[in-house]
Amino acid sequence: MFDVQKIRKDFPILGREVNGKPLVYLDNAATSQTPQQVIDVIVDYYQNYNANIHRGVHALSQEATDKYEQARVKIQKHFNAAKPHEIIFTSGTTHSINIVANGFSSFIKKDDEILVSAMEHHSNIVPWQMLCERTGAVLKVIPMNQEGELLMDVYYKLLSDKTKLIFCNHISNALGTINPIEEIIEKAHHVGAAVLIDGAQAAPHLVADVQELDVDFYTVSAHKVCGPTGQGMLYGKEEWLNKLPPYQGGGEMIAEVTFEKTTYADLPHKFEAGTPNICGGIAFGAAIEYMNAIGFDAIAEYEHELLEYATKKLLEIKGLKIYGTAKNKTSVISFNIEGVHPYDIGSILDKLGIAVRTGHHCAQPIMDFYKIPGTVRASFSFYNTKNEVDILVDGVVRAMKMLL
Ligand code: ALA
Repeated sequence: MFDVQKIRKDFPILGREVNGKPLVYLDNAATSQTPQQVIDVIVDYYQNYNANIHRGVHALSQEATDKYEQARVKIQKHFNAAKPHEIIFTSGTTHSINIVANGFSSFIKKDDEILVSAMEHHSNIVPWQMLCERTGAVLKVIPMNQEGELLMDVYYKLLSDKTKLIFCNHISNALGTINPIEEIIEKAHHVGAAVLIDGAQAAPHLVADVQELDVDFYTVSAHKVCGPTGQGMLYGKEEWLNKLPPYQGGGEMIAEVTFEKTTYADLPHKFEAGTPNICGGIAFGAAIEYMNAIGFDAIAEYEHELLEYATKKLLEIKGLKIYGTAKNKTSVISFNIEGVHPYDIGSILDKLGIAVRTGHHCAQPIMDFYKIPGTVRASFSFYNTKNEVDILVDGVVRAMKMLL
C-alpha cells in the first residue's frame, strides 16, 4: 500500500522550512532527496569501516571491498545486467558517457555517422561532438515535433550502413518525454550500430532491463534515485567493454606495470582508475534497495496521478503554456507564462519555499526549437503530494499578479 505521508517521514529534509515557509521540493529532475535509510548507510561507512578497497589485507579494507562489490551486484540485479562486471562505477552519467565517447575514438573513422536525438542534455551532445572533431565523423540529429516526441520516420531514414552509434535519452530531462528506446535500439542493430541510452532521468521512474532492451550502453546517476552525488554507473555489454580502451590511467586499472609496457586489469577495474567514491557506490546500492522496497510499479502509478493532477491544475492558469506534451511522459512539467521570464517566476516561487528549476535545463537545442530562453520546470517525485501541487499553482498565480 503506497502511503505518501509515511514515505515523506523517511526524508528529513522535507520537514525543513525555506524562507519561512515549508519546503515544497519540486526540483527532483535536478537531484532527488535522500532518505534516512541511505543517510544511515553513509554515516555507517565513515563511522565503522572507512578504508580503501581492493588493496588492503586488513579487516576494514576487506569489509569495505565486500560492501562495495555487493552494491555492484545489487545494481546489476536491478538493471538485469548479465554479469556484475558489466556495471562500471563512475562519478555519474556525464562520466559514463565520456568513457564511451572517448573509447569509440578507436573505432570511428572519417565520414562515419553518429545519430543523436534533438532532446538531449548537453552531456549527451558535447562528448559526441568532441568525438566527431577527433575522428571526422558526422553528427546527425533525430528531430522532434512540437509535442516533444521524436520523429521516428525520420530516424528510420537517417539510418544507413554509415551509422555507427546512436545516443538518446530514455526520458528527456527538460520535457519528460519517454522515448521509444526499444524501437530505437532494435532498428539501430539492424544496421549494425551501437546504442547508448542515457537513463539518468528514467532511473527514478522506471526499471530498465538492459538484457531485454538489448542496449549496448546504459547510464545512470545515483543522485537521481535517492543516492549521493558524485556516483553513477555505466552499464556496457561485456563484449563492448572488453573492446573499448580505458578512459583514465592510474592505480587499480592495471594488471602489470613496467616502464616498457602496462597491461590492463579485467572488467570492471579497467575503467575504475584511482580510489573510487567507495561510500558513494555503497550508498547507491542502498538507494536502489530503498526504491525497490517502495516498488517501481507503485511509484509510476502514483507519479502518473501527480502528473495528471498538476497538468490539469496548471493549465487552468490563463497564459500558461506547457512544453512537452508527449503521450508517453513522466512527472516533469516545463512551462512558461506569457510575457514573463521563467527566472522571475522561479525567484518568486523560491521566496514561497517552492524549489523549481528555471532556464535551459542543460538542453539549449530544445529551447532553440521552441524559440524560448528557457522554462520553469516542476519535476515531481514519489514523495510529493497533491497539496504541494496546489501550493505550486497558488504560487504561480501569486507570481503572475506581482509580475504582470
Ligand atoms: N540534468 C539535471 C537537470 O535536468 C541537472 O536538472
